[in-house]
Amino acid sequence: MANFDRIIDRRSVTGDKWGRYAGRDILPLWVADMDFAAPQEVLSALQRRVQHGVFGYTHPWPSLTDAVIDGIERDHDWRIDPDWLVWLPGVVTGLNLACRAVAPAGSKVFTATPVYPPFLSTPANNDCELVTVPLEEHHGRWEWNRAAVEEAIDAHTRLFLLCHPHNPVGRVFDEDELAWIVRLAEQHDLTICSDEIHCGLVLDEHRPHRPLAALSPTAARRTITFMAPSKTWNIPALYCAFAIIPDAALRRRFKHAMRGIVPTPNVLGLVATEAAYRDGNDWRQAVLAYLRINRDLTCEAIQRMPGLRTTYPEATYLAWIDCRETGLQDPAAFFEAAGVGLSDGGPFGMPGFVRLNFGCPRATLETALERMAKALGQPGVF
Ligand SMILES: Cc1ncc(COP(=O)(O)O)c(C=O)c1O
Repeated sequence: MANFDRIIDRRSVTGDKWGRYAGRDILPLWVADMDFAAPQEVLSALQRRVQHGVFGYTHPWPSLTDAVIDGIERDHDWRIDPDWLVWLPGVVTGLNLACRAVAPAGSKVFTATPVYPPFLSTPANNDCELVTVPLEEHHGRWEWNRAAVEEAIDAHTRLFLLCHPHNPVGRVFDEDELAWIVRLAEQHDLTICSDEIHCGLVLDEHRPHRPLAALSPTAARRTITFMAPSKTWNIPALYCAFAIIPDAALRRRFKHAMRGIVPTPNVLGLVATEAAYRDGNDWRQAVLAYLRINRDLTCEAIQRMPGLRTTYPEATYLAWIDCRETGLQDPAAFFEAAGVGLSDGGPFGMPGFVRLNFGCPRATLETALERMAKALGQPGVF
């Protein structure tokens, strides 16, 4: 069984997370990947494929498609048709393609803040106007300001970018919230991009992930769903993702936007994806159990730190921390100076917050939390 306590030296390989602080004593709890080895089932499949030695052009194959379709049905109770799948080298690529496919230059694209930064840059990349409304925290839960969203969407809006489960606030949106988004889309003839890359990482056992497109045929018709094995099984640099587009006309437009530009994912990404979806469920359950304890530890420690507040993430390995009461001008820089590298809330559209990635061995997390507490004059948070 996987040992998530094992510290793996990531400084010895090139990579964003640990590379940013090379040569400095700063624990990186920023970019969204975990410090855990991928499941043995995935490693073994990759090793077998590498051992073969020939890497000729390779397109997705039937047992891969079956593994993905069966895995989504097993985990999310949604049976998709193989024709609906469009393979991609990444979800960010997919968000930009969706924008290109359905939102003409000058039209508006809606999303709620805070949000994973590429949501905020996608509209400008495609000459569209970004329209945002902040999510609001009420009694420890991030919620939609429905009146403000309804007001912000108008006849020029073409696309609704949804992050579900949500990075960074960790919400798993419920049926009522999702149904409201679908109604809005119907009313304004919008396409919905539902980025569900974190759907395998639902921590809250009472709140299963419900794919938005699975709500109704109406929802399916309007929705481009994105999923990938990258977050759940910790293989983001294998660059393999897919869109699920039930509507044939919408799928045609999306594929048209890809033409001549977007290649199939590389063969190792495809091999890893098949193994992850088919054989990776035990590992997924084990990592979720480990992350639940890390989440509780993080939330309890943050609560004891003066001026910090956080909500309880229902999904993801990310905690979204409100630092505004500390009065710090630049909380990310403050914690970096104290030896902890967090993501700054500014690029997510919400300055004054930081995002902490607790997808790491417990010893690393505890040291980081102790450093943060000490910097705020509150050592001994455990
Ligand atoms: C919501 C969300 N979408 C997409 C991505 C990145 O996807 P990809 O690496 O497949 O482009 C991330 C990574 O953190 C994410 O959190």
